[in-house]
Amino acid sequence: METVVSGIRPTGQLHLGNYFGAVKNFLRMQKEYNCYFFIADYHSLTTHPTPSDLHSNVRQVLAEYLAAGLDPELATLYVQSDLPEVAELTLLLNMNAYLGELERTTSFKDKARQQPENVNAGLLTYPVLMAADILIHHAAKVPVGKDQEQNLEMTRKFAGRFNRMYNTEYFPIPQPFNYGEQLVKIPGLDGSGKMGKSEGNGLYLADDAKTITKKVMKAVTDAGPTTPNSEMPESVRNLFTLLDVVSTADTVQHFKDKYNTCDIRYGDLKKQLAEDIIAFNAPIRERILDISSNDDYLSKVVKMGKEKAHESAAKTMKEVREILGFRSF
Ligand code: TYM
Repeated sequence: METVVSGIRPTGQLHLGNYFGAVKNFLRMQKEYNCYFFIADYHSLTTHPTPSDLHSNVRQVLAEYLAAGLDPELATLYVQSDLPEVAELTLLLNMNAYLGELERTTSFKDKARQQPENVNAGLLTYPVLMAADILIHHAAKVPVGKDQEQNLEMTRKFAGRFNRMYNTEYFPIPQPFNYGEQLVKIPGLDGSGKMGKSEGNGLYLADDAKTITKKVMKAVTDAGPTTPNSEMPESVRNLFTLLDVVSTADTVQHFKDKYNTCDIRYGDLKKQLAEDIIAFNAPIRERILDISSNDDYLSKVVKMGKEKAHESAAKTMKEVREILGFRSF
């Protein structure tokens, strides 16, 4: 059975971008593949979180993974820092990752722009850590959103380079995966770009009805179409993209028709969108509240995941050390 690996940074609550870009596929894949889903707490250190927040953020993502439907009996759910083998593999892969290619990565350039006071080496080697996450379990498939495409391309490059350098076919070359469809990019409500934690434009799975309504009603739009069948501006297209993922096809068509005949009232579109997001969130939100108060369950899940993930990671590290030429005395 093919192996799947994916992770999410614990930098707050999960938003609809995380859900529709990644978690939705996790839910289906856990039934069909050998899955490892983790919480990328090492990665989150690149933005220097406050130590007193780190654990609660990890705990929150874990509770939300479970509330969204990840099943620890089907998939291995673990915390990245519970697997120090990942740090060792990163060190080894770093020896064959080159400054030029790391500096050219879009995510590095973006982050360096966003936090010029903290352009640390961890940001530079972020794609190497990500490659270690994926290769440590020999993943063939990686379910991610569109924003991770380039990082995954780096993993493919590092895996191929390792195989060539050591004349082996040890690492499979992993594929980004979304059930035969394009990788997803869920937009925010601010008119352009993707939904993101650092963008501050997120709709969160844990948001209550009032919060969602307030955010959606404030979403950026334009003055409305004046010629039939005109092209939508990005801000309006974004609302339709969101509607597409939470509403029925009939609802989407209804508002598209209204747009095309210039009869659309954005207030109505937003009201419907808010209602459908609230309905989508409600059961997940309830489970988040329930699961996050259950310490025993959370610690049982993490312990189980750690053991299973460790087994796979320790085997890989033993083999990688041998391939590199390390021998014991
Ligand atoms: P992160 O934590 O930013 O996001 C987690 C997952 O959510 C997806 N995602 C989106 N998808 C569509 N539209 C959006 N607006 C959107 N925002 C986020 C991301 O594509 C991702 O799948 N580096 C990764 C975490 C990571 C990882 C890995 C992923 C570390 N190691 C190994 C896969 C495999 C990250 O920062 O994702």
